[in-house]
Amino acid sequence: MTIKIAGTGSALPNKIMTNKDLEQLVETSDEWIRERTGICERRIAQGDTVASLAATACERALANAGKKAEDVDLILVATCSPEQLLPCAACQVQSIIGAQKAVAFDLNAACSGFLFGLATAYSYITAGLYKNALVVGSEVLSKIVDWTDRGTCILFGDGAGAVYVEATEGPEGFIGFAQGSDGSKGSVLSCNERTDNPEEDIYVHMDGREVYKFATRQVPKCIVEAVDRSQLSLEDIDLFVLHQANTRIIESIAKQLKQDISKFPVNLPRVGNMSSATIPVLLDELNRDGKLQKGQKIVLSGFGAGLTYGACVLTWQ
Ligand code: COA
Repeated sequence: MTIKIAGTGSALPNKIMTNKDLEQLVETSDEWIRERTGICERRIAQGDTVASLAATACERALANAGKKAEDVDLILVATCSPEQLLPCAACQVQSIIGAQKAVAFDLNAACSGFLFGLATAYSYITAGLYKNALVVGSEVLSKIVDWTDRGTCILFGDGAGAVYVEATEGPEGFIGFAQGSDGSKGSVLSCNERTDNPEEDIYVHMDGREVYKFATRQVPKCIVEAVDRSQLSLEDIDLFVLHQANTRIIESIAKQLKQDISKFPVNLPRVGNMSSATIPVLLDELNRDGKLQKGQKIVLSGFGAGLTYGACVLTWQ
């Protein structure tokens, strides 16, 4: 038994912030941001929350799968930017969409969160505890970004993506997973919790070069591991849907894997880095654009704060 993605959905805030807009906030330029990151614009929440964006993405994923909220068994929201510690965003989503019988909880593995959520749903469902799940990545990073720090504020955006997964006997669905964490490098990408102390630094801090090195070294190895575990070769893979952090990172990974860059779709120029939401949002866009074909072998892979990283392989249905 395995699980398959039976529906996808996403939700982006309406407000667009361009690189030109950022030029008004920090000393930077559209050219610098495009060249170093590939990003042209990102979405910024205005009133939307992690829970509201996640709920909209879930409703769209359910509609895409032709399923009802009241039949959902499990809701997993991956997020590192919830508005509230309690209740968790997943329980808020449960209430908004009316998924009364679902078990709901959040998990935080930063930009790898959606992948870790998929592996969690896979484990629950193949163990026989549940038959289906909504797995969501949702972020409002704009509220934890320091808008005076040009090293980070140019990178991030807000949004949510969701998939509805269910048990299947195959041949479609998930084949292999690989995951890892390296807590010893946690300080490379960090953010403190909000407190009552106005002096407290509550914004994202990043050593960009270290993150870049980590991603370009670790992600190719992790993808190879997931592909090996699936008893496939890299040549069998039709699409690599990677975490959208930086086009240079994606190009480096493609080169190291000796795979044509055309196998690596991107939406980063339009939406920036939305942490846990990047992979499900891109997957939904590909699905709705008719770019996913039955039988295609797809790799999903993410990396981020923790440090954390993961990859999985699936056959599209
Ligand atoms: N606009 C203009 N100049 C900028 C800038 C900006 N937004 N941000 C930094 N700079 C400057 C630096 O101050 C530095 O100037 P100096 O040479 O005078 O000191 C110069 O550009 C180079 O900075 P550096 O940090 O070495 O640039 P870089 O080539 O490493 O690019 C990143 C910076 C952030 C784009 C790059 O490191 C990166 O993409 N890292 C990965 C980040 C990431 O993906 N994080 C999320 C992971 S989930």
